[in-house]
Amino acid sequence: MIELSFSTVLRAFYVLIVANFLVKFIKWLLNYISKINSVNRFKGLPMLPLLGNIHQLKTKHEFLMQMRYFSYKYKNEPLWRLWLGTMPNYIFHRGEYAEILFSSAKNTQKSVQYNFLHPWLGTGLLTSYGDKWSTRRRLITPTFHFEILNDFLNVMNEQALIMTDILKNLVKNKQEINIFERLKACALDVICESAMGQNVNAQNDHSSDYVNAVARISELVTYRFFDPLEWSDFIYYKTQKGKDFKRCLKILHEFTTKVILERDGDLDDLDLQSRKRIAFLDLLLKAKRGDPTITFDDIREEVDTFMFEGHDTTAAAASWACQLIGSHPHVQKKLHEEIDSVLGESDRPLNNDDLKELKYLDLVIKETLRLFPSVPYFGRVISEDCDIDGFKILKGETAVIVAYMIHRDEKYYPDPEKFDPERFLPENSKDRHPYAYIPFSAGRRNCIGQRFAQMEEKVLLANILRYFDITSVKTIDELKPVGDLILHPNDGIPIELKLRC
Ligand code: HEM
Repeated sequence: MIELSFSTVLRAFYVLIVANFLVKFIKWLLNYISKINSVNRFKGLPMLPLLGNIHQLKTKHEFLMQMRYFSYKYKNEPLWRLWLGTMPNYIFHRGEYAEILFSSAKNTQKSVQYNFLHPWLGTGLLTSYGDKWSTRRRLITPTFHFEILNDFLNVMNEQALIMTDILKNLVKNKQEINIFERLKACALDVICESAMGQNVNAQNDHSSDYVNAVARISELVTYRFFDPLEWSDFIYYKTQKGKDFKRCLKILHEFTTKVILERDGDLDDLDLQSRKRIAFLDLLLKAKRGDPTITFDDIREEVDTFMFEGHDTTAAAASWACQLIGSHPHVQKKLHEEIDSVLGESDRPLNNDDLKELKYLDLVIKETLRLFPSVPYFGRVISEDCDIDGFKILKGETAVIVAYMIHRDEKYYPDPEKFDPERFLPENSKDRHPYAYIPFSAGRRNCIGQRFAQMEEKVLLANILRYFDITSVKTIDELKPVGDLILHPNDGIPIELKLRC
């Protein structure tokens, strides 16, 4: 019998480990090479092995401009590709091809980049998928029922009144107005009251830690999306940015936890019929009582999701609208005429009939969301193999749908950078491809708050316009739009307001 020394066994063991590693590495390498061959059939920036295009990517405003530059450059291609390290991303910049993703019931899973939102939003409605997402979507959809939206209309009117009073004071004191800040605070008050039944008075409390933390965490998450060096939690949380992320998280979660606990306590004898206003949180708390599998964390992740999705998006859209209205006097004149004819000289709150009659304002809001979709890009895992112009894309790959560029397709929007609300007149939009306009996304994962948002935008803008003339101070180029989670100006939107006589 052969006797094996301990060192021989050890050596054999090492050889086995190294061989195993080598086999795995070779398999991975072959797979990577075949992926490069298959993905690089689509156009894109020249890539480096392992790094992909990471070293070429810019940040903030320059990143959005880079996406725009390449989408225009590859405008005749069905899509283009971008390598984040070894991960290919298919950039969908044309509605016809995005349709392939949206029209399949299967492509409902968000891309891995959304995982960076999990510490904050958990797996709430925005980030979850599969059974969890469909159960939640069913549970939450009734919150946006027509009658409940009417209750929210009152909240919007009340908060718009507070905002216009603040603006009147600022105008009196001849102060420059950063309309983005004002609208953000107003939209935060609207969503807090509608979603949580809580008045946080962000409009009068300028130093809202919550508002600042939302802005900072959105920026941090976007940096993480695009920098593989920040992808590992282990490394990230040791860096200054990671520590800042945790600081923001603490502020955000403490805020929502406090509100939920207070509301839960208030609702011990939960009788929704008798409540003046039913907040979204009430319905969740009621569902929790009927279904013990719903936990406190489940509620919190939905509340966090709504607080985030429900205010920054609307505020950004309304702010870009002010910028565009303030730099297009003929549009502003038409808006003033329409608003005066619907509301007259009264100060009364807007009702549903008014909203229906503000048809030109509707066009302006649509065109603003075309040029400045609040969510400029969203990501999906491609869940079944698909065919793009004869090229196969395998399931499991990542798609990035760039609404910002889909909305600039010259085929549907001649002179695409021009602000022209009349593009959305029925006669001008009837032949447009259904997926050429997707500010609220499309398909099963579309925005659940769409009607809420449209209503809020109208109420806020109509209230500003009934009292003020808007003049923009800067050009869009000077404002440097940034495509973080939300499409926002780099440093606010300064405008001048003049009281209308
Ligand atoms: C102008 C305002 C808004 C715009 C442009 C907008 C746009 C979008 C878009 C593009 C998505 C899909 C995102 C993705 O796939 O990653 C989305 C999802 C969502 N939005 Fe909005 N949104 C707005 C306002 C709101 C409001 C006011 C609320 C809540 C009251 C809200 C709640 C949500 C939720 C919960 C989702 C996830 C839905 C799901 O996946 O089932 N949004 N929104």
